Amino acid sequence: MGLSKKFICFCLLFPLLLFLLFQLESSSSSSSHGSSFKPAISASSQQFKPPVLQSHGSFEAGNHDHHKGKDGGGDDNQVFDDEKRKVHTGWGTDEKAIISILGHRNLFQRKLVRLAFQEIYHQDLLQQLKCELSGNLERAISLWTLDPADRDAVLANETLQKSDPDYRVIIEIACIRSPEDLLAVKRAYKFRYKHSLEEDLASFTTADIRKLLVGVTSAYRYDGDEFDETVAQSEASTLHQEIHGKAFNNEEVIRILSTRSQAQLNATFNIYKDIYGHSITKGFPGGDYFSTLRTVIRCIRDPKKYFAKVLRSAINLEETNEDALSSVIVTRAEKDLKDIKELYLKRNNISVDEAVAREWSGDYKTFILALLGADQN
Ligand SMILES: *[C@@H]1O[C@H](CO)[C@@H](O)[C@H](O)[C@H]1NC(C)=O
Ligand SMILES: *[C@@H]1O[C@H](CO)[C@@H](O)[C@H](O)[C@H]1NC(C)=O
Ligand SMILES: *[C@@H]1O[C@H](CO)[C@@H](O)[C@H](O)[C@H]1NC(C)=O
Repeated sequence: MGLSKKFICFCLLFPLLLFLLFQLESSSSSSSHGSSFKPAISASSQQFKPPVLQSHGSFEAGNHDHHKGKDGGGDDNQVFDDEKRKVHTGWGTDEKAIISILGHRNLFQRKLVRLAFQEIYHQDLLQQLKCELSGNLERAISLWTLDPADRDAVLANETLQKSDPDYRVIIEIACIRSPEDLLAVKRAYKFRYKHSLEEDLASFTTADIRKLLVGVTSAYRYDGDEFDETVAQSEASTLHQEIHGKAFNNEEVIRILSTRSQAQLNATFNIYKDIYGHSITKGFPGGDYFSTLRTVIRCIRDPKKYFAKVLRSAINLEETNEDALSSVIVTRAEKDLKDIKELYLKRNNISVDEAVAREWSGDYKTFILALLGADQN
C-alpha cells in the first residue's frame, strides 16, 4: 500500500480514536448514555439489551433516513449527535485504543460509531479497520463491528470460498439462529452477493450434503415449545431405519431435520435414546455426509454444548483455530456466551479466559478477552 494511502488513514483515524478513548474512560465513572459494555457478564441468557437500545431500537447504521423523519425525533438525534461529536474528535492508529473502544461497545453503540464515522468522513469504518489492522485481529474486529445478520452473511461467504469447506458456520446459521434471524441473514446475503444463500450452497455442494444443507437453510421452522409425542415416536424410528438400516436413502432424514421445530426434534432425539439405548449420533457411519449430519443434530439438540465443544477444539488442537475461536466468541458474546463459558469450565477444568490467555498473545488476545468479559472481572 502506498505511503499516501497509509497517511490518509492515519490522519482520518488518529484524532477520533483518542477522543473516543477519553470518552470511554470518563463514561465508565458516570455512565448513563454511553453505558460501557460488559459482554459475557451482563448478557443474560437471551439477548443483551443495553438501556439505550430500548428507546432507540430501530436505529440502523448506514441508513440515514431512519433517524431523520422519526416521530418527534428529538431523542434519536440527541444520541446520534453525541456519538458524532465523539467520532469527530478522536480516532487513531493505536490498536490498543481501537480494541478498548470497540471491544466495550454494544451492538447499538457500534452502529452509532460506524454511522458517525460515515457521516463525518464519508468512509466506511470497516474499510478503515482493514487498512489499519491485519490478520486475526482485523478479522475479529471487523466481524464484531458488522451488524449480526450481515456478519453471518460474510461468514457464510467465507465458508463457501474455502477450497476445503467445513460447513459448520452455515449449519449454525441455519439451525441455531431464530427463524426470523435466519431470514435476515438470507436477506443480507442476497443484498451483498447478488445471489441467494441457497443458490450458492447448491452450486458449491453435491449429492446428499447439498440436499441436507439446502434443506436446513431453506427452513422456516415453528419456534414454539409444543411438540407431538406420537410424531416424535414415529420419526425416531424412521430416523433409525434410514441412518442405520443401510437404506441408502436420506430423504426422510432430511425432511425431518429441515422442517421440524427444535422442540419437536429434541423430543424425537430423546425418544430415540429411550428406544435404542444410545444417542442418535452414536455409531454414525463415516464420511462427509454423516459428519455434516452430526453437526446439524448437535446444533439442534444442544447449541451451548455444541459451542463449548467447538471452542475446545479451536483452543486445544495442535494447530489452534483462530477462525473458529473468533466466530464463536463474536457471534455469541451478546447471546449466551456466559452459559457457554460455564459449560466449558465444567467440562474442561479450565476457564475459556485462562485457556485463551495461555494460547495467544498480543492484541488479538486482548480483544478476545475483552469480548469474553475477562477484563471486567
Ligand atoms: C463471496 O465474496 C466474494 C468477494 O466479495 C465474491 O467474489 C464471491 O462471489 C462471493 N460468493 C461466493 C460464493 O464466493
Ligand atoms: C430437550 O429435552 C430435554 C429432556 O427433556 C430437556 O431437559 C431440554 O430442556 C430440552 N431442550 C430443548 C432445547 O428443548
Ligand atoms: C483441575 O484444575 C486444578 C487447578 O487448575 C487442579 O489442581 C486439579 O487437579 C484439576 N482437576 C482435574 C480433575 O483435572
